[in-house]
Amino acid sequence: MEKVKVTIDGITIEVDAGTSILNAARQIGGDVVPPAMCYYSKLKDSGGKCRTCLVKVSKGSEKDPRPMPKLLASCRTAVMDGMEVQNITSLEVVEARKGVVEMLLINHPLDCPVCDQAGECHLQDLAYEHGVEKTRYEFERRTFDRIDIGDKIQLHMTRCILCYRCVFVADQLTNQRVHGILGRGDASEISTYIEKAIDNDFSGNVIDVCPVGALTDRTFRFKNRVWFTKPVDAHRDCPTCSGKVTLWYKGEEVIRVTAPKDQFGEVEDFICNTCRFETKNTSDWVIEGPRQIANTSVISSNHYEIAQPPPVIKTNLVLQEANKEQFEKATRS
Ligand code: SF4
Ligand code: FES
Repeated sequence: MEKVKVTIDGITIEVDAGTSILNAARQIGGDVVPPAMCYYSKLKDSGGKCRTCLVKVSKGSEKDPRPMPKLLASCRTAVMDGMEVQNITSLEVVEARKGVVEMLLINHPLDCPVCDQAGECHLQDLAYEHGVEKTRYEFERRTFDRIDIGDKIQLHMTRCILCYRCVFVADQLTNQRVHGILGRGDASEISTYIEKAIDNDFSGNVIDVCPVGALTDRTFRFKNRVWFTKPVDAHRDCPTCSGKVTLWYKGEEVIRVTAPKDQFGEVEDFICNTCRFETKNTSDWVIEGPRQIANTSVISSNHYEIAQPPPVIKTNLVLQEANKEQFEKATRS
C-alpha cells in the first residue's frame, strides 16, 4: 500500500494513504492524539458529529502547501503526503475545543456525583481539561424523562451528546435496530419510538460505546463508584462472542462485566449480553489477572491531577523545538 508522510505536533510518521489524521495521531500516541467523542474505529461511518477532534492543518501537502482555511475534524480528514497538522500545539485548536466543550455542556447536566459513568466519561475528562466554570447560556435546558430500554439498559437523554455511536451499534451489530435519532437540531433525541425494548444478544454494547452516562447498565446502577472497584481480565468459552471481558469486583462480588477497553476508550471486542449480564459469578470465568488501567485515569489514581494544558509542550523537548514559534507565542502572553 502507498505510504504518506504526515507531521503532527512536530512528530513525523509514515502511514498508509487514506488514513485519517486522527488514526495517524493514534499511531504516534500520547498527547498528540485529539479527543474523539463520536468516532469509534470499530463502527463503520462513525465520526464527524461532535467536533472535539478538530485540528489545524498548517500545511496541506507537499504538492499544495497552502494551510487549510478552517479547523478540520481529524476523524474525517485523510492525511496527504507532506501534510503538517497541529493539535495541542495550536492555540486556535485549544480555544476551539474549549468552545466545543462549552456547547456540549449546555444541555448536559453536571450530575457526575450521581452518574455511573463518572470516572470513565470522556466528557467529564474534557470538561476537566477544557471546561469553563461558568455558563453563558441563559435559556431553558432540554429535559427528558428517564427511559428504560429493556430491563438491563437505562437511557438518560439529558446526558446524550448525540454522537450516534449507539445507533451504529444497533445497526451494525444487532441487525435489529429499533432505535435511532428522531427530530432535528435541538429537538433531536435518541428514541426507541414506542420505547420498545432492544432485545437481542449484542444490545448491551450500546452501554460500552456511549461516551457519556446517557446509556447505563441497570444491573450496575448506583452499586459503586468505578474507582473503588477492582478490574480483572477474564475469559470464558462463549458460543456467541469472543468471551473476553473485564470483571469489575467489589470485594468478592462481580458487580459489573464490560468489554475490555483500549487506551482510546474503545472496546477491544464487542461482547454478548449473556457474558455481560448473566454470568456474574467468579466460577463462570477463567481469571487472567488485573486489568492494566492507564495511570492517568481516575480509576487507578483515584483522583484527578491538576490540569496543565497543553502538557506536551512543557514536557517534550523535541516538540518544543519543533514548535518553537507556537511555543514562544503561547508563553509570550
Ligand atoms: S445515547 Fe450515548 S451513544 Fe447514544 S447518541 Fe447519545 S451519547 Fe451517543
Ligand atoms: S470524533 Fe471527530 S467529529 Fe467527533
